[in-house]
Amino acid sequence: MPRLAKRFGTPLYVYSASTIVSRLRAFDDAFRKIPHTICYSVKANSTLGILRLVAATKSGFDVVSGGELERVLRVDRRAAKKIVFSGVGKTRDELKAALHENILLFNVESESELWTLAECAASLKKTANMALRVNPDVAAETHPYISTGLHKHKFGIPIAEARALYARASGIRHLNVSGVSAHIGSQITEVGPFAAAMERVADLVRLLRADGHTINYVDAGGGLGIPYTRVAPTDFSRYAAEYAKAVTNPLRGLGIHLLLEPGRAIVGPAGALLTSLVYRKKNDSKTFLVVDAAMNDLIRPALYNAYHGIVPVIPAYSVRREIVDVVGQVCETGDFLGRDHDLPVIAEGDLLAVLDAGAYGMSLASNYNSRPRPAEVLVDGKSVKLIRRRESTSDMLRFES
Ligand code: LLP
Repeated sequence: MPRLAKRFGTPLYVYSASTIVSRLRAFDDAFRKIPHTICYSVKANSTLGILRLVAATKSGFDVVSGGELERVLRVDRRAAKKIVFSGVGKTRDELKAALHENILLFNVESESELWTLAECAASLKKTANMALRVNPDVAAETHPYISTGLHKHKFGIPIAEARALYARASGIRHLNVSGVSAHIGSQITEVGPFAAAMERVADLVRLLRADGHTINYVDAGGGLGIPYTRVAPTDFSRYAAEYAKAVTNPLRGLGIHLLLEPGRAIVGPAGALLTSLVYRKKNDSKTFLVVDAAMNDLIRPALYNAYHGIVPVIPAYSVRREIVDVVGQVCETGDFLGRDHDLPVIAEGDLLAVLDAGAYGMSLASNYNSRPRPAEVLVDGKSVKLIRRRESTSDMLRFES
């Protein structure tokens, strides 16, 4: 790590290729008893170098915009047949781009979108494979900003209204009703809500089949959380197996092909954000470590009050410890990476690693306070690849006159 920091500078995202691949394999293995496709959720980390690694495992992708679709196609055009397209506001251009690629499934989220998809498909003389994203009205124990499966949320179609809409969809020539999809939220660490959602989905599948629809796919969405506060390494295979059981049990006997959209569970623990201590600062009784990474580089603590472990990069650096707030350089009180962390005492210029930053770190990074975004490196055994160079100030200004 210190060598990486020296070579590429900080703040720096560092990812482990073997962690990503082994987590994908463990996830895949957990579902071995049922026909399935993993569609990695691109929004969690959409850097091409990461997508290339995922594509090499023959996984599919879950995309939510024309931009994400293009990213996947750039790394592997043949992945199109394993792409599912989610999102509440897909535009005509985005729908057409995806239709052009003959993607696996459109997860439709409203009646208006259904008609628009039909119109776009007709204009291109294509048939769109579609599922309705239903809202199963189950509460997921997670941060309110990332819980999606309740009626009050903007996502999906109320499950009670789905049947009527499926009936309408099946009458449209350019649409091929082929699945049911649900996603109840993110960073869910109990498997109960997944099972509850899938029970409702399974009931709907049975009803739809009785109505004469061919339902081949169930898309269970993503959402499996990671233990940000762990003290000891957890056994991901066991956790994935428990999740798989919760998802697949309610679907038993339906003979469906399962689609899964994990994001965080695959890449979250595979990435760390390396940052250097710029200044130590004391105010009254508080000690602040002002570091060179900030909320524009990793917004999760500021946005969700999310906890990330923070460790000095050289272990056992000092026996003296202190309680500190690790804060960034941005002019907002909310700009912190960690509050009240108990850390060994480090000196200005020393390195810290913010852990579990592989998901929703770089993909949510911005230029707030006119800060160029960090570089990203992918470590694969002995090889170190710069998968995104550090943004420069002129990169940042290039679209402005
Ligand atoms: N599928 C759909 C339709 C989604 O909306 C999401 C995430 C996923 C899959 C992937 O969920 P995952 O397996 O990663 O939990 N920025 C927030 C998380 C937002 C999640 C949005 N949707 C965070 O940093 O916690």
